[in-house]
Amino acid sequence: MTRKKIVAGNWKMNTTITDGTALAQAVTDGVTPIKTTVIMCTPATHLHTVSEIVKEKSNIHTGAQNCYPAEKGAYTGELSVSMIEAVGAEYIVIGHSERRTYFDESGDFLAKKVDITLAGGLTPIYCCGEALDIREAGTHVKYVGNQLKAELFHLSAEDFGKVIVAYEPIWAIGTGVTASPAQAQEMHAELRQLIANQYGEEVANGTSILYGGSVKPANATELFSCPDVDGGLVGGASLKAELFVPIIEAMEAL
Ligand code: PGA
Repeated sequence: MTRKKIVAGNWKMNTTITDGTALAQAVTDGVTPIKTTVIMCTPATHLHTVSEIVKEKSNIHTGAQNCYPAEKGAYTGELSVSMIEAVGAEYIVIGHSERRTYFDESGDFLAKKVDITLAGGLTPIYCCGEALDIREAGTHVKYVGNQLKAELFHLSAEDFGKVIVAYEPIWAIGTGVTASPAQAQEMHAELRQLIANQYGEEVANGTSILYGGSVKPANATELFSCPDVDGGLVGGASLKAELFVPIIEAMEAL
């Protein structure tokens, strides 16, 4: 099974609707991806507008950066999957290290978000990754594997097959330090093996595993060339069309 090649931008808490609209339009005008699925994960306030813009290009989509694991109700400040779906977004980032760290999101809570996203027919972009001390202790493969086991492996094979996994070493996020292609490939291959052990080769070979952490035009090609790296989740460099478009083009050129 060939798996999807994906370049996703995570805008985090950046841009107002005015500059966000301009950014989305510049990306949409700047590239017509043929074999790459492009996803712009914008602030929730922009999703409706940006979803309308990206309709011009069949391979460009939008995603939310978070959701709450309940259908509706008294959860002040939160957004449900159906609200996100209704404004045109098709993906939801779940388990980003910033949410785990700053908002104390636990594995159980994240597993519920994955479940409700899938139940609502949207695609989770599930993030995992280790902090620097774990990397330095040499236990990173086990640590990230345990995140997957605890937060995703309750899914049926059918549901797991719908999830996009993003490996984002915390020490590489927003730091300018990128994992080397060898470090990314090592982790991605280990995760794919773990998925194969749980769900079989077919599901494992069909799972897109993205790398995230200081992806930029200068390193996109070497990262995306790794056999088990199926694309990127891009933070800082997704905020400028002149950086994000070349990253998409790097994937298109492979
Ligand atoms: P970065 O962020 O590209 O700015 O390192 C990646 C992410 O957090 O998704």
